[in-house]
Order: sequence, then C-alpha cells, then structure tokens
Amino acid sequence: MSVRLRDDFILDSPILPASGTFGYGDELIDIVNLDYYGGLITKTITLEEREGNPPERIFETKCGMLNSIGLANIGLKRFLKEKSEFLKNLRIKKIINIAGNTEDEYLRIVEDLDKYNWIDGYEINVSCPNVDKGGIQFGKDCITLSNLISKVRKLTKKLLIVKLSPNVDDIVSIARVCNDNGADAITLINTVYGCAIDIYKKKPVINRVIAGYSGPAIKPIAIANVIRVKSEVNIPIIGVGGIFSSEDAIEFILAGASAIQIGTAHFNNPLIAEEIYNFIVEYCRKNGILNIADLVGAALK
Ligand SMILES: Cc1cc2nc3c(=O)[nH]c(=O)nc-3n(C[C@H](O)[C@H](O)[C@H](O)COP(=O)(O)O)c2cc1C
Repeated sequence: MSVRLRDDFILDSPILPASGTFGYGDELIDIVNLDYYGGLITKTITLEEREGNPPERIFETKCGMLNSIGLANIGLKRFLKEKSEFLKNLRIKKIINIAGNTEDEYLRIVEDLDKYNWIDGYEINVSCPNVDKGGIQFGKDCITLSNLISKVRKLTKKLLIVKLSPNVDDIVSIARVCNDNGADAITLINTVYGCAIDIYKKKPVINRVIAGYSGPAIKPIAIANVIRVKSEVNIPIIGVGGIFSSEDAIEFILAGASAIQIGTAHFNNPLIAEEIYNFIVEYCRKNGILNIADLVGAALK
C-alpha cells in the first residue's frame, strides 16, 4: 500500500502519526506495531529545550480536545543525543517536525539535522496556535513564509513538508507559497482555535485561554481545507484532523489527501493505525483499486 510523495520518496503505508501525539516513537514501541505506519513524524523539536505552557493545558470536550502544550520538547541537542539511536534503527521513514522562534532558528535546526543520513525529511511547523513566538506567525504571512521555505529548501534535498494552520485568512494563498518555494508536500491541518469556560469557577479551563482544538469536531474543517488546497497546488497533501476511524481516513483520501495522519485518536486507541491499514487494503480490494493513488481526490473528479 505504498504512496509516492516525491519521485524518490515512497511511504510503504499512507498512514503517519500526527506530530505531538506520538512522542518520539520510543514511548509507544512496546504497544504499537510501527509497520502499519509509512513513517514516523516526531513531536516538534525546537533549538532550545522547552517546558511548554503552564497547566491547565489539556481539556477534553464533547467532540474533541483542547490543548495548549506550547511545543514542550527536549530541544535539538538532547533529541540528537537521546533519540537518534532508537530512530535510526527503525525501518520506516523518519520525518522530524521542527519549529523556531526566528527564521534563523528554523535554518539552524535544518542545517544541523541534515548531516544525519538516517533522517529522511522534515515537517516544518508554521502552525502552532499555542506559542507567542515561532508558531502560526510564520504560517499566516505569505512573504515571511516564502522567505522561510525557500531558505530551508536551499539547505536540504530531503523531503520538505510544510504543516499549515486553518486559522488564517486565506489558506489557498499560503499553500501556493509552499508549492512555489520548493516544498514537496503540505500537511493540512494543525489545530483550530478553541476555548472552553468553567461555569463554576467562571474562568477559562485552559491557562492561556485560547487553545488548539483537535479531534472529531474538526474533521469537516480539515476536509474542506484539503479540497480547497488540492485544486490549487501540484504537490501532495497529507490530511489530518479528526481521523478516528477507517472511514474517516478514506474520506480524506477521496477528498484529495495522498497520505493521512492520526493525531488525537492515538490517545483513545494506540492501535488504530493497524485497523485503518487493514480497512484500506480491504476497501481497495473490494473496489478493484490496485494503486491507492487512484483514490486520491476521486470524490471531486
Ligand atoms: C496534545 C497535542 C499535541 C500536539 N503537538 C503538536 C506538535 O508538537 N507539533 C505539531 O505540528 N502539531 C501538534 N499537534 C497537532 C496535531 O499534530 C494535529 O495536527 C491536530 O491535533 C489535528 O489532528 P487530530 O484531530 O487528528 O488530532 C498536537 C496535537 C495535540 C492534540
């Protein structure tokens, strides 16, 4: 069930973990069979270690989850020291999700990581809604983004994915900037702005008030974004947002996603990739589909 993201880049499965919902992979290795994933996307790495935002920073709602983790992570140095050994021995592709406070930080991280042959690609996070610096500010302005992506492109020949936010005025223009400045693929979408209020304390439940909303409620928003962007760019789209079942995954592919990511659903069911993988195989068999690429965008043709 392979998927081609670039002439020289094939995923053996269309399923990937969404950044931040699968750690660095090592925490889950005892329960999850990574063979069902085409690659591993790490939690976002920043140049310096980050503690993230103070609690409360997670809250479950009826149809999803609010998070305001704030890119808590072990930083580039510790990542290389503590995680390389585990990651480099995996058979699946290794994609490192990165973010920076400044353009220079993004560039320094890519420059440093690019020396390691075991790293197959990057997912550039320009879409985190939960930080003051180094998040969505890079993903909402076309000029800032085009400078960043074209400079990163010059630093690496590895797969370059840009992960976008739905919390922008015109996602199609932002996606075109990625397409025109050398990105190989676009991930759609990061979390949607959300908030919940505790009526007894008369206060927002999340310390930073506005958080990122994920889970089943955002699936229609994500699919609409996939459809809008798909018709305007040539590069593949990786769909993410509210995939909680095999049918959800197929929906994204029919809407135009070449591959999909599983995020919040991992917290409910860490084995969901296996279920989705088997369902897609069976769905293709029943529908006489030999190449999953034939399903991509089929609902809109
Ligand atoms: C707890 C949590 C942490 C996340 N951390 C990151 C992160 O570090 N980097 C990133 O690019 N996206 C992060 N995300 C966003 C997810 O990768 C994904 O884009 C989003 O949750 C939508 O997908 P879902 O509805 O399937 O969860 C995080 C999401 C959650 C719920």
